[in-house]
Amino acid sequence: MGLFRITHVNFEEIFEPKDFDTEHENEWEDSNRLNEPSWDARYDYEASLIVNILNSNKQIKTILEVGSGPGVLSQKVQSQIDDVTYHLIDKPFAEKYFKDNNFKGEFFVKDLANGFDKTGLLDQYDMIICNDFIEHVFNPHAIVKTFHELCHDDGIVFISNPNWRMGHQFIYRGLFDFDNFVYMFYVHKFTLQGFYGSPLKTPDYPRISSETMLSDDHLRDWNHYMIFTKTEQE
Ligand SMILES: C[S@@+](CC[C@H](N)C(=O)[O-])C[C@H]1O[C@@H](n2cnc3c(N)ncnc32)[C@H](O)[C@@H]1O
Repeated sequence: MGLFRITHVNFEEIFEPKDFDTEHENEWEDSNRLNEPSWDARYDYEASLIVNILNSNKQIKTILEVGSGPGVLSQKVQSQIDDVTYHLIDKPFAEKYFKDNNFKGEFFVKDLANGFDKTGLLDQYDMIICNDFIEHVFNPHAIVKTFHELCHDDGIVFISNPNWRMGHQFIYRGLFDFDNFVYMFYVHKFTLQGFYGSPLKTPDYPRISSETMLSDDHLRDWNHYMIFTKTEQE
């Protein structure tokens, strides 16, 4: 059997590894995201989903937000909910913004690119929030495995997974197609309970074979806000 030689490698539409923001100190230094009304509206929407969940699950008292950025979402949640312990993890630039603005909660600086060091965190949390983050790291397995360790047995993982149609940065692209993402969590003993759509829509591209779980009306959601719980032990 002869070797089939590849004569042309097409990475044109893919980010160059040197551009992966996980390698950079501050991915937002050229961005006005924190001042943009559209981002503020998005955080309002996300906060409304999370606050609804908290209002229907009063036993949730401890929250960990991973890859939080400077923490705008956390403030919107805490302004509507009393009496929760809110921990956040991101990079030094995000902590600086958080501290400069006297934000509420406790911020942990950690580099999660290749692993997840749990030092300083609680043993377990009632809720883990993680929006548009896992696709940025080199070792998604370490993140999801640690979520399982950090999530109470009856806890909730709320996670926003961006739709590939919106041209976001993905280190491992196909892993974040809807079905594959759910499967990655299944492998790590999490069960998908459902998801919330996004009011924002992506450009129109046809369905691909790893999107069997999505109905037509959610195919172009900018991202999907998924709710996972730990798979029951047999
Ligand atoms: C797309 S942003 C999402 C931020 C926030 N969750 C939101 O929805 O606005 C990805 C976040 O992951 C953080 N991040 C990327 N690589 C990281 C790493 N190696 N360790 C810790 N945080 C990282 C970035 O600093 C950034 O805040």
